[in-house]
Amino acid sequence: MRVLLTGGAGYIGSHTALALLERGHEVIVLDDFSNSHIEAVRRIELVAGTDIPVITVDLSDREATLRKVDCDFDAAVHLAGLKSVVESVAQPNRYYRVNLNATLVLLELLRERSVSNLVFSSSATVYGPPVNSPISEDHPVGAGLTNPYGWSKFMSEQIIRDTQRIRPDLAATLLRYFNPIGAHTSGNIGEDPTGVPTNLMPVIAQVASGRREKLSVFGGTYPTPDGTGVRDYIDVMDLAEGHVAALERNTAGVRSYNLGSGVGVSVLELVRTFEEQSERRIAYAIEGPRLGDLAEVVADPSRAADELGWRAKRTLGASCRDYWNWQVRNPYGYVSEHVSR
Ligand code: UFG
Repeated sequence: MRVLLTGGAGYIGSHTALALLERGHEVIVLDDFSNSHIEAVRRIELVAGTDIPVITVDLSDREATLRKVDCDFDAAVHLAGLKSVVESVAQPNRYYRVNLNATLVLLELLRERSVSNLVFSSSATVYGPPVNSPISEDHPVGAGLTNPYGWSKFMSEQIIRDTQRIRPDLAATLLRYFNPIGAHTSGNIGEDPTGVPTNLMPVIAQVASGRREKLSVFGGTYPTPDGTGVRDYIDVMDLAEGHVAALERNTAGVRSYNLGSGVGVSVLELVRTFEEQSERRIAYAIEGPRLGDLAEVVADPSRAADELGWRAKRTLGASCRDYWNWQVRNPYGYVSEHVSR
C-alpha cells in the first residue's frame, strides 16, 4: 500500500515509517516539523535504504494541505498533532485548534481522494481514571479527563466515528497507546524531545547521561507493590508494528485497539532495568505525587492479539538498552553529527 503518514518525522511516526517499509509498503511523510526534525526522515532513508517523499505542511491548515497533497495514496496513518499534556493545560485553544482541525482536514482529504483506510493515533488517556484494571477497550471513555490533550484525542475519536456513519466504506482503526519507550535497534532513530522532557523515560536517560542530577519520583505511597506509579510500557517498534497490523486489517467500520504490553511496571522497576542496561546509576528522590497522575494504568491487549494478530514482543530490558544506545549515539538528538548503520 502507499501510505500517507502524518506526523511521520516524530518519535512514533519515524518508527512506524520503518515498520511499514520493512513490510514492503510505500511511505509518504507529511509533517510540519514544528516538533520534529527533517534529519529523522534522512535516518529512516538511511536505515531502510530507500528515498521517502516528504510533504511539509501543517495538516490543520486546510487550504495548504488540500493544495500540497497532490500525490495518490491508498491509506493514511494519522499521527500529526500536539502531544504535551502539560502544555495543553496552558494552551487549550491551540491544542483543540491544531489537533481537531488536523483530524477534520485529513478526513476531508480522504473523502476527496476516495481513500477509505485510516489508522488513528489515540491514547489510553481517553479511558480517564480506570474503574478496573487491566483496561480493555470496553472500559468507559471520556469520564474524568483532566486535560485538553486527552480531550482532543477523545474528540478526534468521536469525529472519526461520526464521519464513518455518513461514510460507511471508511475503515477506521483507533489505536490507544499506553506508554511508548525504546528506540530502533540501529541507534539511528529514537525520541528527540524538544525543551525539558516530562515523561519518565527521557528523564531517566538524561540522569544516566549526566544532563540531569536526579530523577524526581512522583509519589511513593500509591497502592502498588513498591508505592510508585505503575504503567504499561510498550516498545516503540512493537507499537509501530501495531500500526502496520491495523492498516492491513482494512475492514469497514470503526474499531479501537489497545497497544500495550499488558504488564504493569513501577517507576522504580523501570529505573532498575535502565540501570542494568546502561550500567549507570540513576539518582532519584521520592517526592509528592504529580497533579492528575494515576496509581496504575495497564492495558488488556487481548483484542489486538485476537483480531490483529499483534502482541508486544520486546522485553523491558531490550527497550531500555535500545533507548540508551540511541541516547549514547545521539546525545543531542537529531542535531548530532554521529550517524552509523
Ligand atoms: N514519573 C516520575 N517522574 C518523572 C516523570 C514521570 O516519577 O519525572 C512517573 C509518573 O508519575 C508516572 C510514570 O512515571 O507514574 C509515567 O509518567 P509519564 O509522564 O512518562 O507518562 P504518563 O503515564 O503520565 O502519561 C502518558 C503519556 C500521555 C498519555 C498518558 C495516557 O505521556 O501522553 O500516558 O495514559 F496521555
